[in-house]
Amino acid sequence: MRRCGLALVVALSVLGCEAPPPPAPYEQATEIAEFMAWLLEPAADAIWDSAGQVITEAGVEELAPTTDEGWDAVRNQAALVSELGNLLMMPHFAQERPDWVEISRGMVRAGARVQRAAEAQDAQALFKEGGLLYQVCVSCHQIYWREGRFAATQAEGAP
Ligand code: HEC
Repeated sequence: MRRCGLALVVALSVLGCEAPPPPAPYEQATEIAEFMAWLLEPAADAIWDSAGQVITEAGVEELAPTTDEGWDAVRNQAALVSELGNLLMMPHFAQERPDWVEISRGMVRAGARVQRAAEAQDAQALFKEGGLLYQVCVSCHQIYWREGRFAATQAEGAP
């Protein structure tokens, strides 16, 4: 009798009679171009604007934060970049593209390393990890951001 029941369940699932999975609780709130321009770019810029040096007429200016609050702000943006990397793996963005997911995971990790550099208040590490984060942006854009295909805001100098 039990075996019969089991056989029926197996047969039903083979026939596709299983209940569909419940809908995901989240809703897409941005298109990918908006996600990039409104969320990710500002977070990444806050990191890059705090890394390295600029040379001006007055001499070399260090960009690294000089206060605890400044470092905390960079840490916060780095954590945001990591979580945005997680959001990029959501199905509506990832669209079952394994390389997209892999690069997004890379962004989660790159953000985490920037976060650690900020927590350590290590200007050199911040510069290095900020550069590696940039590489992650570029590696996805090289594959998925094609010239002229997207019409959203004009993001000049975007990686
Ligand atoms: C997993 C893939 C992926 C990663 C990682 C990624 N991007 Fe993008 N990005 C895209 C795609 C796809 C577009 C084109 C979007 C469109 O216009 O439809 C884009 C476009 C952009 C744009 C232009 C948006 C506009 O106004 O049209 C900016 C700015 C941008 N990305 C910034 C970044 C930054 C900064 C990073 C890294 C911190 C990054 N992106 C990482 C996929 C990615």
